[in-house]
Amino acid sequence: MVFITNRLPKAAYQKLSKNFKVTWNKSQLSEKQLLSKVKPYHALLTTLADPITASVLRSSPNLQCVANYAVGYNNIDLAAAKKKQIWVTNTPDVLTEATADIAWALILACARRIPEGERLVRNGKFKGWNPLMLLGVDVNKKNLGIFGMGRIGKAVARRGRGWGMRVIYHQRHRESRVVENRLNATFVSFSDLLKRSDILSVHSPLTSETSHRFTLVEFKKMKRTAIFVNTSRGAVHSEKDLAMALKRGLIFSAGLDVYEFEPKIDADLLKAQNCTLLPHLGSGTVETRDRMAILAAENIELVLRGHTPKTPVFNFK
Ligand code: GLV
Ligand code: GLV
Repeated sequence: MVFITNRLPKAAYQKLSKNFKVTWNKSQLSEKQLLSKVKPYHALLTTLADPITASVLRSSPNLQCVANYAVGYNNIDLAAAKKKQIWVTNTPDVLTEATADIAWALILACARRIPEGERLVRNGKFKGWNPLMLLGVDVNKKNLGIFGMGRIGKAVARRGRGWGMRVIYHQRHRESRVVENRLNATFVSFSDLLKRSDILSVHSPLTSETSHRFTLVEFKKMKRTAIFVNTSRGAVHSEKDLAMALKRGLIFSAGLDVYEFEPKIDADLLKAQNCTLLPHLGSGTVETRDRMAILAAENIELVLRGHTPKTPVFNFK
């Protein structure tokens, strides 16, 4: 028996219901609601907004698999799942290009002040070409800083070559020479990443190490002309501090697809004109979301047939 926790592309239900009994819930559930529903199921197809806590896992005695419909899985208590021998899977690879595109959409939107221009036109304030109107910053040949050079970070870096950018990156481990050469990317310290990036794009998962990695202290070290983009998880930066940095002009602008307390957004951030805000659309294309649905369903099928899933988050040793 399989439980799909929220609205998803039909592909997941279609695939799973051929072989299993599937219950499809079609609205966001709270932890309390999940607790009351998950008991009978062998597999859950969850979204990044579902709190899959130790209590939820405990209240589902037959559970063998939590297939998260996302590449990130910070919504799931992994230690508790592992202890209970429950597979946790995510949807990597299939959403890499779409997410890299949204990061680039934000980079260009910030650099060229596209949302501000759009608002100006719609508000009837375009009175003709003006040599000093809404001046942005060049992207061409600038330093593209990547925090977290995983699949998505690499795809963003690869696109940077089209703009003739120098790529610098920081993460725990240095990539191989081969990868660095292919991306024309240079490993730098976190402090150099802050100092040298003209555009700093965040692509790390949210972990205890990356939580609040960007606070006022870090924004102060960045260039005043810099653009900060986050399409991974909102809590990698302090939202209050970012709002303050934008207000004080410590950086030029920010582009966000994710928020620290999603779906709530800091009131000052909402007021900041030099900030482009998207409603967590990273993987949001028809094709990508279909691929994610099918991959999540495949993972569940494999586990319920006694196999190793295709994209597990951890392995049992
Ligand atoms: C989206 O945020 C994801 O983790 O897939
Ligand atoms: C701008 O529209 C230009 O022609 O330079």
